[in-house]
Amino acid sequence: MLYGADYNPDQWPEEVWDEDVRLMQEAGVNIVSLGIFAWSRIQPAEDTWDFEWLDTVIGKLHAGGIAVNLATATASPPPWVSATYPETLPADESGASYWPGSRQHFAPSSPTYRRLAGELVRRLAERYAHHPAVVMWHVGNEFGCHLWMDFSDAARDAYRGWLEGRYATIDALNDAWGTSFWSQRYGAFDEIFPPRLAPYSHNPSSMLDWRRFTSDMLLECYLMERAILLEAGASQPITTNFMGPFKPADYRRWAPFMDVIADDCYPDPANPHRVRDAAFQRDLIRSLKPDTPWLLWEQATDAVNWRPANPGKRPGALMAETAQSVARGADGIMFFQWRQSRAGSEKFHSAMLPHAGTETRTWDAVTELGARLKALPALPAPGRDAHVGLVFDWENWWAVEERDHPTEIDYLALVLDWYGAFHERGIQVDVIAPEEAGLGYDVVVAPTLYLLRDEGATALTAFVRGGGTLLTGPFTDIVDGHDQFRDGGFLTQLADVLGLRFEDFGALAGTSAGASGVGALNGQAVQAARAAAAAGTAEFALDGVAHLGRLVAESVHATSATVVSAFRTGARAGSPALTRHAFGDGEAWYVATQPAGTGLGAVVDAVVAASGVRPVVAGLPAGVEAARRGDLVTLINHGDARVEIAIDGTDAETGVDTALVVLEPQGVAFVMSPERAEASAAPADATRRTAVAP
Ligand code: GLA
Repeated sequence: MLYGADYNPDQWPEEVWDEDVRLMQEAGVNIVSLGIFAWSRIQPAEDTWDFEWLDTVIGKLHAGGIAVNLATATASPPPWVSATYPETLPADESGASYWPGSRQHFAPSSPTYRRLAGELVRRLAERYAHHPAVVMWHVGNEFGCHLWMDFSDAARDAYRGWLEGRYATIDALNDAWGTSFWSQRYGAFDEIFPPRLAPYSHNPSSMLDWRRFTSDMLLECYLMERAILLEAGASQPITTNFMGPFKPADYRRWAPFMDVIADDCYPDPANPHRVRDAAFQRDLIRSLKPDTPWLLWEQATDAVNWRPANPGKRPGALMAETAQSVARGADGIMFFQWRQSRAGSEKFHSAMLPHAGTETRTWDAVTELGARLKALPALPAPGRDAHVGLVFDWENWWAVEERDHPTEIDYLALVLDWYGAFHERGIQVDVIAPEEAGLGYDVVVAPTLYLLRDEGATALTAFVRGGGTLLTGPFTDIVDGHDQFRDGGFLTQLADVLGLRFEDFGALAGTSAGASGVGALNGQAVQAARAAAAAGTAEFALDGVAHLGRLVAESVHATSATVVSAFRTGARAGSPALTRHAFGDGEAWYVATQPAGTGLGAVVDAVVAASGVRPVVAGLPAGVEAARRGDLVTLINHGDARVEIAIDGTDAETGVDTALVVLEPQGVAFVMSPERAEASAAPADATRRTAVAP
């Protein structure tokens, strides 16, 4: 288990470096990410290089038995870069420059930035590729973090080239973007601009390509650095730090180029859904490369500095949040940062070593955590222990959140709601692309898969035909990979699987993502409220309990599906709200609205009951989370009460046999409890998806 932090010795005089190493040893630190923002220290001027300080630091760490994840330091170009080469600066939507003085002020597609960054990486690689202390490479930092899109001239030029590479001819692009609409037909690639500030909506197909391009430019920066490291003979794993569900970068496309996935996660102590949201993030990250344990590359020991209010963690929460990562596949637990900064924007950000020193609650928590992680045995690669695959797809995210739709949808929030229903029930979930449906899951949930690629449709169809259970809808299977309607209406790919014909959308006024009234003119809000009242609500019932739909109440017709529940109110009264349909050896469910509140859980209960999927540990008390990783079952009490859980196994930290786990609030237990041992004791039909009996 790796344990450590970002280490920024360039912010400190040399005198503290020895103390750093000594205290790292005391805390159980065995690795640091070194020099992430050190470009200006390594290269103070274009023709001046200074590696001596880095040699010294690496030497001290090595002597102290602390490994180095060496950063390529390219995330924050020094002042001389911006002053000498203003073409490296990115621009906003209106074309105005972003200026230096912060960090990440570089245009990812700028050839000059790439040349200068490449030279820095080459020098670092040549000097340290064979250094015994360097065990990993940290490329850039959180690519795209502050700058979600760059509209600079460098981006314009690169975009034109990228489009030409993708479409070859301008006619092909015109077809893909549907440019006959609003006189947008292009005569040449040189007529195309980034989607800068325009009077009204940009062409949605172009926006989808722009998003793809943006993700690809960031990826190209990573790949450029990776190639330089490899060329110089680096044989260590190479990675960069992801940020969970980060909209600008399609991490699924990046994952094959990461030797190990690293992720930064900062649960907001004030977010009532922080446990769910963090669990989703960790499941997403694990699912990107399930055969390799991932690394939690940054979390905070306590408060951060960048939210409007920055409360600290509750006592014990650091252990509980860390355990969630280990449970869900992490083999490294790291922090931003080792020693709290004494200057700069992040001086109020917590660290492993607080400014107030070692006689602090934080230091106690950090040293205790180091000791507990050290006690854990080697853990297996996470693999695909989940039996439910939840589809979360970047291209769909980009497309579904474009403008001018029947209703505004916050895709991530919607997916988190579905995820939450499984999480609450203790059912483990992998987060997958639609194309991954066939990788052994019993149930695949594909909420609001508006953009459905041909390959995704094929995989989902084969999954159901082969015996799987699919739950999908609403606003699914509407457009192709260019964000264009397909011929033949909607649900063109999945109609047979679902046994449905789709007629119309039926937006429910006042229930969309933007329906809080924020940003809406008063008149519009009043109009929306009136429309909602006129249309009525979209109520449906399951097992005699009434639930409300939101976002849409679609008009679908059951051609061969069974109607499980019909809308009881509103414009769709009498029309199907939830359907199920046997197809091949499997079954496909469709929900024609986004169930609100308890409705979501009721739909999940219905699908779970029909499919036989079971929780990791049955009958867990509320607030207790369980996750399986091979033989390891991790139990975390996020609730406020002490709980007892019966589980047969061995305490992973002490090796002692256990039958009962007692957890205080925020308490954590790691129990080795092989699924197959319990499975043999369980009824035959429950063996594959067995729970550990309470
Ligand atoms: C990100 C960055 C770090 C630091 C932290 C603060 O994760 O990678 O450099 O700014 O945020 O939370």
